Amino acid sequence: MIYDKHIFICTNERAQGAARKSCGETHGLELVDAFRKKLKERNLPIKIRAQKSGCLDICDFGPTLVIYPDAVFYVGVQLDDVDEIIEQHLMNNKIVERLKLENVRAQKK
Ligand code: FES
Repeated sequence: MIYDKHIFICTNERAQGAARKSCGETHGLELVDAFRKKLKERNLPIKIRAQKSGCLDICDFGPTLVIYPDAVFYVGVQLDDVDEIIEQHLMNNKIVERLKLENVRAQKK
């Protein structure tokens, strides 16, 4: 199966007390469930898959996900951002600028 959009959502978990944060400890798994549920409800005319991934190595900005083939990384993604990502990015090919890695990184400098 080839997808029009493929979402990889970090669900990596580190051992308790690890120095780096991990998306799985935050709400990575809940994000996977939320994307799957909302995508199913919308029954969109394109093929989209949302799946778990291991660490995307952007842990400090997590929870993190990436959407291919666009290769757009979103960071600090909250559960209530899911609808916006679906409507803007997946349905209308418009990047959610406020969650885009490069923009968030630039703001934290
Ligand atoms: S733990 Fe999620 S990006 Fe590393």
